[in-house]
This record gives sequence, C-alpha cells and structure tokens, in this order.
Amino acid sequence: MSDSASPLSPVGDRHFDGLAEKFAASLYGGARGELRLALLDRLLPEMLDLREQPLLDVGAGLGQLAGWFARRGHAVTLTEPSAEMLARARQHLEGQDLRFLQAPLQDLPELAPGPWPLVACHAVLEWLADPRSALAMLAGLLAPGGQLSLMVFNRDALRLSNVVKGNLEKALADRLEGKGLRKRLTPISPLTHGQVEAWSAENGLVIHEVAGIRVFSDYLRRPPESEADRERLLALERRYCRVDPHWRLGRYLLYTLERPIHPPEEATP
Ligand SMILES: C[S@@+](CC[C@H](N)C(=O)[O-])C[C@H]1O[C@@H](n2cnc3c(N)ncnc32)[C@H](O)[C@@H]1O
Repeated sequence: MSDSASPLSPVGDRHFDGLAEKFAASLYGGARGELRLALLDRLLPEMLDLREQPLLDVGAGLGQLAGWFARRGHAVTLTEPSAEMLARARQHLEGQDLRFLQAPLQDLPELAPGPWPLVACHAVLEWLADPRSALAMLAGLLAPGGQLSLMVFNRDALRLSNVVKGNLEKALADRLEGKGLRKRLTPISPLTHGQVEAWSAENGLVIHEVAGIRVFSDYLRRPPESEADRERLLALERRYCRVDPHWRLGRYLLYTLERPIHPPEEATP
C-alpha cells in the first residue's frame, strides 16, 4: 500500500474515516454496545463529581457520550478528527445544543485550550501512534482540580480473549495489536493498567477511580439467549466491574484521573 493510500494520519493515528459504518454496526449496533452504555450510565455518576461543569469530549466518535453529558446539563464541546464520524455525531445529536469541532487531540491545546474542569476521552488512546504524549496533552487541558474520564482498550484483556479464541501462536508471540490498516477494529496501541499508572504519575495526575468495562461478556462461550440472561449478565458486570481481580480484565479500563489543585511539592535534592 502506498503512503497516500494509508488510512493512518500523518502522525500515524487511525482516524475513523472509512470505518464509521463498521464501527457503528459492530460496536454500538449490538449487545456489546448496549452493555457499554448501560455500564457507563451507572458508573460515570459514581466515578465522577458531576456538577454540570463544561465538558470537552475528545475523539467523540458517534457522540453517544457527548449526548449523555449534554442531557445532564453540561455545556459540551464535541471534538473529532474524522469528518465521517463528526457528520454522524451531528445527525445523532440533532436538536441538542452542543459545540462541534473537527480536530485531532494534538490540535486541542491551540483550538480548545480551556483549562477544562471536565474532559472525557473514551476509547481513543488505543488508536494513536503515541498514546503517552496524548495523555500528557490531555493533562495539559485540565484545570487544577479538573477531572479526566479516560477509557482505554485493555491489552491484557486482548491477550485473554485471543487465548480463549484459540489464537495461541499470536498470544505467545505477543502480537496483539492491529496495524490500523483496512477496516480492522483491533486497536494499534492497546494499553495496560501499568502504562496508565506510570503515565498518569509522569503528568501529575492522580488515579481516583478505576473500573473494568465488560469484565465477563467478551469471554462467554455463548451469548445470553434470553432477556432474563441478558439482565443477569448486566447485573454480574455491575457487581464485579470495580472488584479486584475482575476489573483488571475488563475489555476496557475506565479511569477518573484528577489534576490536583495544589501540585505536590518538588522533592528537595
Ligand atoms: C473507538 S472510537 C471511540 C469513539 C467514542 N469516544 C466512543 O467512546 O464511542 C475512536 C475515535 O477516536 C478518533 N481518533 C483517532 N485519532 C484521533 C486523534 N488523533 N485525536 C482525536 N480523536 C482521534 C477516531 O476518529 C474515532 O472516532
């Protein structure tokens, strides 16, 4: 494939142009998407201190999360680099009062510097070539005392699901990430909890809360067939999503990171 045909951005990120249809169908069209939204609906008010503060949604995709915050009274700025995703988000949120901005995260320090009391960045870092620098940029957008709702695709869960599916050679070689080419939805930079811990500390962010999203559902041998079983699965997910060790193998890891009002004193040499 020549460079001009590559779906990657000049810095190597996978903007979702050309993927919107597949993403909408496979991630939000079915039970998995419903479960994710049902879990977030319960978890976000528990994990964040929500006071109708203005929100910056980074890499907002189809706009479900932005809409959720807007309905709860937040003034939402929805940002997304892909024109295709942004058009769908506009359509999805028609009639709701949000600000839309077509931009990648890397341009936000200039275009929407804030500082913001609340930033959301869900399922984006794993699509970037350099997620570590991206977290530093997100930290820079936060006001002192500001909160970042960060969700990342969990590398350890990806390993487990590959083993469960019988992809043993791939798992043993630790070849878990995708390349971002064609219409594949395997992220190019799945992250570990250890990386989020280390990079948060590097940027002076404190991890306040953590949960696993879909700690059981992606490992089932058979999807639940009845409504009653779907309810049971949701109840199990809700019960164990913040319980050790289950949260650690959630398909996604959801964090509340906070920028302290007073940065810790520099250690004296
Ligand atoms: C998996 S989707 C997640 C969308 C939404 N946040 C959600 O949780 O449903 C990843 C999104 O990140 C966007 N993205 C890719 N590179 C980005 C970048 N450099 N800055 C901001 N968003 C980016 C993609 O275009 C895509 O819409």
